[in-house]
Amino acid sequence: MYSYNTLFTLLSLFVILYLSGQRGLQVEGGKTKNGPKKLFVFGDSYCDTGNIKKGIANSWGKPYGVSFPGKPVGRFSDGRVFTDFIAKYLKLKSPIPFSLWKLAPNRLKYGINFAFGGTGAFDTLYGPNLTTQIGSLEKLIKDKVYTASDLNHSLALVSVAGNDYNHYLTTNGSLTGLIPFVVSLVNQTTNDLIRLKGLGVNKVVVDGLQPFGCLPIQTAPFSFQKCNETANQISSLHNNLLIDSVNKLNNQNKDHPSFIILNFFDSFTSVLKNPSKYNIQNPLKPCCVGVSSEYSCGNVGKNNVNKYTLCDDPKKAFFWDIVHPSQAGWHAVFEELKKTEALRQIRHH
Ligand SMILES: *[C@@H]1O[C@H](CO)[C@@H](O)[C@H](O)[C@H]1NC(C)=O
Ligand SMILES: *[C@@H]1O[C@H](CO)[C@@H](O)[C@H](O)[C@H]1NC(C)=O
Ligand SMILES: *[C@@H]1O[C@H](CO)[C@@H](O)[C@H](O)[C@H]1NC(C)=O
Ligand SMILES: *[C@@H]1O[C@H](CO)[C@@H](O)[C@H](O)[C@H]1NC(C)=O
Ligand SMILES: *[C@@H]1O[C@H](CO)[C@@H](O)[C@H](O)[C@H]1NC(C)=O
Repeated sequence: MYSYNTLFTLLSLFVILYLSGQRGLQVEGGKTKNGPKKLFVFGDSYCDTGNIKKGIANSWGKPYGVSFPGKPVGRFSDGRVFTDFIAKYLKLKSPIPFSLWKLAPNRLKYGINFAFGGTGAFDTLYGPNLTTQIGSLEKLIKDKVYTASDLNHSLALVSVAGNDYNHYLTTNGSLTGLIPFVVSLVNQTTNDLIRLKGLGVNKVVVDGLQPFGCLPIQTAPFSFQKCNETANQISSLHNNLLIDSVNKLNNQNKDHPSFIILNFFDSFTSVLKNPSKYNIQNPLKPCCVGVSSEYSCGNVGKNNVNKYTLCDDPKKAFFWDIVHPSQAGWHAVFEELKKTEALRQIRHH
């Protein structure tokens, strides 16, 4: 059996050996005033704005959506999610969920959101994986819904925020298998980024992994008071491999580097360390906590009794539920990201 200390040592050693001297993402973009005209979004619940089906997910029930738009619409938050903040930053409307595009063809000009809660780069319990989501865009291109020029003026955002790890840890969980799993996940994610670029998308943006060990699902055993540093090591390994991989891709085309990583690890960490800057209190404790052992928000028991508790003011919470930031949380993360060169890059063609 492996103790957490052993895992920690293995991970640290691996990071040190693997990386020696390859940190930092250098991207020099050709700068024009013409930012992306369309946003195509892929990945998981950090970006899903309503693809996940009613009946499967709590995100279609109360109290989700209570801050925005005032009712549940499938977003895994009390309000806006990451996609909405990126779209606003690009001065675009939040792209329509793929499941609804036929109902609102006039919205296609802003792009499409294919992201689906619960999914990963590999298969998880349900939902279309990244390969399948990208296949849906490929089909729309074949059907001439989008032209080469549309794609050339578009940005793809990919979120791989940890469902693969949850799936791995719950179905396999072997610590010896974990490092190879991180390697294969980053490899698969990189293949997906390359495929998107191959479809003609101008810029491909991927989020780095947030500090996984600070998610309430991990901090619950510590009464939401401290992060699981072992789990955070997984994020660091993942992110360092991803940086390495993306640097290699950009070095192959120095005149027009197309791949950008958003540093979720540092932006989440900055907010969690200095929450008062954003008027956030008790940052590791989610606003909505289930009373059952799974802590999941939104369940309703017999006689319509809520099986969760809600905080007084979601605007003061960083996390909404056990894995997702609140709207205020995403706002704060986005403010931190705005300080990074990577975010400025996404506005340039
Ligand atoms: C993604 O899902 C498709 C369809 O179920 C499957 O054929 C494919 O193997 C999956 N890809 C990965 C990388 O898991
Ligand atoms: C994409 O757009 C840029 C800037 O408008 C242009 O220089 C380039 O040739 C276009 N590429 C393709 C493949 O259309
Ligand atoms: C589980 O981990 C072991 C290594 O300990 C590996 O051989 C096996 O393929 C893994 N299984 C899955 C489903 O990932
Ligand atoms: C990386 O992906 C390629 C393409 O799918 C695959 O052939 C290769 O085996 C993968 N490598 C690892 C280490 O997973
Ligand atoms: C911390 O995270 C590691 C890796 O996921 C896990 O094995 C361990 O059980 C966690 N510790 C606690 C106290 O939950």
